[in-house]
Amino acid sequence: MFTLSSLLTAAVLWLGTGREAASEQRQELVADARDLVLLSYQRGLDAVSTEIEERIILGAGLERWYALYAGNGIKLAGNLDGLPPHEGWSQRRFTPRATTLAPSPRSRRLGLYTVRTARGGWLVVGRDAYFIQHMRDVAERIFLFALALIVALSLVVGWLIGRQLLRRVGAMSLAAERISDGDLDHRMPVRGAADELDMIARTVNQMLDRITSLLADVRRLGADIAHDLRTPLTRLRHRLEQLRPPSAGAAAHEAAVDAALAEIDGLLDIFQALLRIAGIASGELRRSFAPVDLEALLRELHDAYAAVAEAEGHRLEATITPQPPIRGDRSLLVQAFVNLIENAIRHTPPGTRIALELGRAGDTLLAGVRDDGPGIPEHEHAQVLQPFMRLDRSRHTEGNGLGLALVASVAELHRAVLQLDDARPGLRVTLGFSLVPGLPHTPDERPG
Ligand SMILES: Nc1ncnc2c1ncn2[C@@H]1O[C@H](COP(=O)(O)OP(=O)(O)O)[C@@H](O)[C@H]1O
Ligand SMILES: [Mg+2]
Repeated sequence: MFTLSSLLTAAVLWLGTGREAASEQRQELVADARDLVLLSYQRGLDAVSTEIEERIILGAGLERWYALYAGNGIKLAGNLDGLPPHEGWSQRRFTPRATTLAPSPRSRRLGLYTVRTARGGWLVVGRDAYFIQHMRDVAERIFLFALALIVALSLVVGWLIGRQLLRRVGAMSLAAERISDGDLDHRMPVRGAADELDMIARTVNQMLDRITSLLADVRRLGADIAHDLRTPLTRLRHRLEQLRPPSAGAAAHEAAVDAALAEIDGLLDIFQALLRIAGIASGELRRSFAPVDLEALLRELHDAYAAVAEAEGHRLEATITPQPPIRGDRSLLVQAFVNLIENAIRHTPPGTRIALELGRAGDTLLAGVRDDGPGIPEHEHAQVLQPFMRLDRSRHTEGNGLGLALVASVAELHRAVLQLDDARPGLRVTLGFSLVPGLPHTPDERPG
């Protein structure tokens, strides 16, 4: 492409110079003819003859050609023979005589301009196109030389760039092969330049990081599920064993069946929660998001759980200020806050104060549950969000360790920031929902 465009530029230049020179020469010719015609009217044809002879001698036969004919066709002066066929412009080929300087002269083209003079005479003025030809020849030579240089240069540069690109692409494809062969810790080579290939490599590497971490999550979850199902299944097996005859009587029989059923319910709960978390993680639900009034939602939960909390010896309060609605999935948000409230009831001693909170910090809407119970040590904050993770002290409280995991995935679905804080004393869990334009909240969206 580069070579082609240079070629085009040069061609335009070449044609342009030739045309310019030709038109200049024509103007000169016309002016020359006009001078001589004027002379013929002022001082007669003889004066013109003298002038022409003078000019020919001064010009030493170079580039200047003249012929003056009287009205009767007799040639009066000049170094040209033969009258052109008509007035105005014409051309003629002409080979100059050989000289010592130019032993075999090339044939030239003459541009001729013919006009009438005073007393019915004819004047022919000619210029050699040799000069123009010569200029073109020189331009052509310079141009060909430059072209060869450009072609050579673009080939070399193209080859160098191509080789470099190919080498890098080759390295990337090798890396990709290694990764697809199972070496998931291998990464695409990044050269450190801010070019497109590095951009691709970085993006692919980020993608691989994400995939690897997701894969680790999946592996761990699988192991956790297996591990956590073993205990209830073992217990279930034990209960069923107890049911085998000879049994200890109808009452014990019934108790064993009930216990077995409760065990199975617990297992089903785990699967229910796991399926729910998996469903949330897919992000599909974002499409059915609708405006949710968190203020109303938290007030409803407060009304629903105040009595439950009281029955366990706790007090449930609400510190709620009116806020604009957010976009979200109402039933999942309810589930998340229920999990937090149940945790605050379950994992704290009687007499604990629990507060539902709704407030705002800048463009972020903060909704959460706070209690003044034992709290969770700072270094365990990240861990308790993982599926099946429970603090040691909670081993004997009811639950399966999936409550906060569900809260975390609901937060992620809503692109909310989930934060666990030390409430000094106690635990505060907050979800920060962004109110910025990406999630539009217009007043008419407020649910009735
Ligand atoms: N409000 C709280 N106060 C103290 N510890 C808590 C609180 N909420 C959760 N935890 C701890 O975090 C663990 C994980 O909670 P969660 O995921 O809801 O599982 P579960 O409630 O089924 O045990 C709990 O087992 C408990 O040890
Ligand atoms: Mg819980």
